[in-house]
Amino acid sequence: LDGNNVTLWKYRSLLPVRIEPVTLFEGGTPLYPVDVDVDARVFVKHEGLNPSGSFKDRGMTVGVTKALELGMKSVACASTGNTSASMAMYSARAGLRAYVLLPSGKVALGKLAQAMMHGARVIAIRGNFDVALKLVREISERKGLYLLNSVNPFRLEGQKTIAFEIVDQLGHAPDAVFVPVGNAGNISAIYKGFLELREAGYIDEIPKMIGVQAEGANPIYRAFVEGKDSIEPVENPETIATAIRIGAPVNARKALRAVYSSKGKVLQVSDEEIVSAQKMLAKQGIGVEPASASSLAGLLKEDSDFDTVVCIATGNLLKDPEEVMRVSGTPVEVDANISEIERLI
Ligand code: F0G
Repeated sequence: LDGNNVTLWKYRSLLPVRIEPVTLFEGGTPLYPVDVDVDARVFVKHEGLNPSGSFKDRGMTVGVTKALELGMKSVACASTGNTSASMAMYSARAGLRAYVLLPSGKVALGKLAQAMMHGARVIAIRGNFDVALKLVREISERKGLYLLNSVNPFRLEGQKTIAFEIVDQLGHAPDAVFVPVGNAGNISAIYKGFLELREAGYIDEIPKMIGVQAEGANPIYRAFVEGKDSIEPVENPETIATAIRIGAPVNARKALRAVYSSKGKVLQVSDEEIVSAQKMLAKQGIGVEPASASSLAGLLKEDSDFDTVVCIATGNLLKDPEEVMRVSGTPVEVDANISEIERLI
């Protein structure tokens, strides 16, 4: 299947596919120890090092394989960017037509570039992600397109392998896993992975699942604080972390169940805290997009007595070059001569 590449298909017996998978060798991402001012062993699982640069590839390899298995010709999604990039890539690989609905003007450039180059039909709507998702669900139904948002259970099956890899890499379960939360599929998927590991006897206890939302897009945080198991949508979500700029997450109930039953919690972080965590990771050689840094930003706010903690970094730095240039400034420009340059060194 994949030569000597370590991919998530290592766990094939736990994944619900019947045909040869459509793979770009996803999964097998590094678990980096990081040095941050927290009294625990902290690791970052760098999902930005997947083929398209985000964790979505874990879901797409399974979801797109399923589309082929079911004889579908076309796939569709709404996206804040990464899902569309990943779906475009995997459907190109599989020879499927791909249709993508995006919130116009709110998708990071790297993600849009990927969706375009890999040949998806990209439709930018004047409206936010929540509206796009509602529309694409209806259109998929009407047109017989295979929907690949995280309402598709096979997406979550692929993403649960994050839990398998963490336990494989650490040799045990961590005490807590911090996960950036937008549409809330990933935290639900990772929780399911840990449940399966416990059922199979590989771990005794499920780590505390800690969801982290951006302050301006925090419906699940609000529900958690009020002890509820469903959300009130946020009408006009806004955050620098456009990946998680979502007001009505479809997997909210599942995510809240994961949080409550693992005795975890949901935190919110400001845009400033996100950027500061993003820079902290960058200084240790780990380049992530803003949404990805929210997990570490959450950990830094939390005074906990965990021994071992894993923060999920969901997407690559290169996804959102415009944000990076805004927060890190532009290079100094000088004439092309030695003395000018030496002045700067
Ligand atoms: N981090 C990144 C980089 C994302 O792209 C997303 C979701 C999340 C975190 C949140 O994951 O939705 O499972 O809670 N991006 C979706 C997209 C919505 O369309 O690319 P979630």
